Amino acid sequence: MTATHEDALLLREVGKSYGDFTAVTDVSLTVRQSEIVCLVGPSGCGKSTLLNIIAGFEKATGGDVLIGGRPITGPGPDRAVVFQQDALFPWLRVFENITAGVRARRVQGYEARAEELLRQVRLEDFRRSYPYQLSGGMRQRASIARALMSDSKVLLMDEPFGALDAQTRGEMQGLLQEIWTAYRPTIVFITHDIEEALVIGDRVVVMGASPGRILETLQVDFPRPRSLELTTRPDFNEMKRRILHLLHPKIYTA
Ligand SMILES: Nc1ncnc2c1ncn2[C@@H]1O[C@H](COP(=O)(O)OP(=O)(O)OP(=O)(O)O)[C@@H](O)[C@H]1O
Ligand SMILES: [Mg+2]
Repeated sequence: MTATHEDALLLREVGKSYGDFTAVTDVSLTVRQSEIVCLVGPSGCGKSTLLNIIAGFEKATGGDVLIGGRPITGPGPDRAVVFQQDALFPWLRVFENITAGVRARRVQGYEARAEELLRQVRLEDFRRSYPYQLSGGMRQRASIARALMSDSKVLLMDEPFGALDAQTRGEMQGLLQEIWTAYRPTIVFITHDIEEALVIGDRVVVMGASPGRILETLQVDFPRPRSLELTTRPDFNEMKRRILHLLHPKIYTA
């Protein structure tokens, strides 16, 4: 496939080895602007490794990684990362946490956007709270607001809802779609939860381990906004079963 300016991210035959150990091999993936791509796969198949390469925290040992047509050489403000455990500063209040990055870069006039984002993630009444005073879901909402504050076009999310209870998780899946509708970021989203991948993703990339690689990519066309109500649809469950088969061929037959 030829890359166009519409492509936010382009991975071409990306590999990553640690000494003799091949963590990831031959990963080619094009992510269009404003597309949401979910990565699923067993523990150790290299999902975080790929995300960290895109983030610029790690270097690929093979292949090319381009963002907006340019090679990635390190972390940059065009990408923001949200991890499973929030990375909020414990000594800063919510508002100061959300604006820490823009203040460090001496961006002017960020207040209006910070207020808008606080409303968007429903933390406007908690702007003066410290992280320890927030629930896990609220902390992740603050992390997402901080990621969006830097005006990054690409959001990289590594199991961002993995530590949350099922109900909060469902709410966060709804909130993420609202945020996507408002700002249309390009999102790469890692999850262990197949239903979550099918609710959130425009595409689901199924990875396998030993060595980490792409097994199959599925296009997900359910209308948005989506919720876990999709789980009642037969076509949803067909896709879920296909993914389960790819991940556990001995247990789930084709
Ligand atoms: N710095 C490192 N040095 C050596 N091996 C590493 C390093 N980082 C990751 N690995 C190995 O690379 C493989 C992929 O790891 P990675 O963290 O990307 O997996 P993952 O798919 O994110 O797994 P999980 O679902 O458990 O988060 C693993 O086998 C891991 O042990
Ligand atoms: Mg991981």
